[in-house]
Amino acid sequence: MKPCLCGRGCACRAWWTRETVAVVTGANRGIGHALAARLAEQGLRVVLTARDEARGEAAAAALRATGGDVRFRRLDVADPASVAAFASWVRHDLGGIDILVNNAAVSFNEIDSNSVEHAETVLRTNFYGAKMLTEALLPLLRRSPSTSRILNISSQLGLLNKLKNPQLRRMLLDEAALTDRDIEGMVSRFLAQVGDGSWRGRGWPEVWTDYAVSKLALNAYSRLLAARLAGQGVSVNCFCPGFTRTDMTRGFGKRTAEEAGRVAAGLALLPPRDLPTGKFFKWRTPQLYSKL
Ligand SMILES: NC(=O)c1ccc[n+]([C@@H]2O[C@H](COP(=O)([O-])OP(=O)(O)OC[C@H]3O[C@@H](n4cnc5c(N)ncnc54)[C@H](OP(=O)(O)O)[C@@H]3O)[C@@H](O)[C@H]2O)c1
Repeated sequence: MKPCLCGRGCACRAWWTRETVAVVTGANRGIGHALAARLAEQGLRVVLTARDEARGEAAAAALRATGGDVRFRRLDVADPASVAAFASWVRHDLGGIDILVNNAAVSFNEIDSNSVEHAETVLRTNFYGAKMLTEALLPLLRRSPSTSRILNISSQLGLLNKLKNPQLRRMLLDEAALTDRDIEGMVSRFLAQVGDGSWRGRGWPEVWTDYAVSKLALNAYSRLLAARLAGQGVSVNCFCPGFTRTDMTRGFGKRTAEEAGRVAAGLALLPPRDLPTGKFFKWRTPQLYSKL
């Protein structure tokens, strides 16, 4: 029996096999790499993706050298052609996948700065990229209540309690009425305000604002997708690793990428009976979005 990975020291059995396929985006470094390493260590077939061919192949080779069944495939989540090519490869070469971890993301801010200079790239990568890939791979996710999972690596910076705009809060909290168009409309409105310089004082999250809006939108999309897929054998959850020492934080943080990757892998591999959907995991603790 494989050791418990869910972190609670329980006797959960490995439900996966060597044929279980997990795709991890942005896995050439940081938390994504650590997460891919843990999944490979557990005997899954891992597709390690990265936007840079050389860095991705080197990262995959390092995991193969320790015995992992790891394949590299180039994927730039912000590029529609790259996403389409990746989905086509999955269809023809793998037939399907079981786990999708949307980990790839960018931030251009220093720890204590708040520039929105690269807001378009941040939104295109962290929100639209994750969404575009998810929608492209949905038909290829093998539907099974015990195995099929989407885990979006998100951030507490994008929780609803960081949003002060009352109208947007009301919209995001009204789960019965919320639509994809509403979420994309919110993102467009933010980018338009960035464009004309009027975004300050409008109730957007105050820390790493463009990044926080990207995660706010990702969280809302995840919640909507979880509801859309309810009863169809795919769970959708978000995970915030907390302040972690990676390139994104310029090496600052409370924990290592390895620690964060291990917890993320544990969530991706939760035993079927413990697998929720539509939850936001702050470290290992599932929370209801609406309570935050
Ligand atoms: N570190 C933290 O404190 C923290 C806290 C909360 C949430 N998170 C989240 O955790 C996840 C991993 O972050 P990290 O800290 O490990 O960051 P990181 O070390 O900066 O790694 C980011 C990864 O995303 C990749 N990436 C960026 N743009 C991409 C694109 N367009 N297509 C494909 N891959 C792309 C990068 O590839 P390149 O090498 O090519 O740039 C890199 O592999 C992110 O979703 C992040 O938002 C991190």
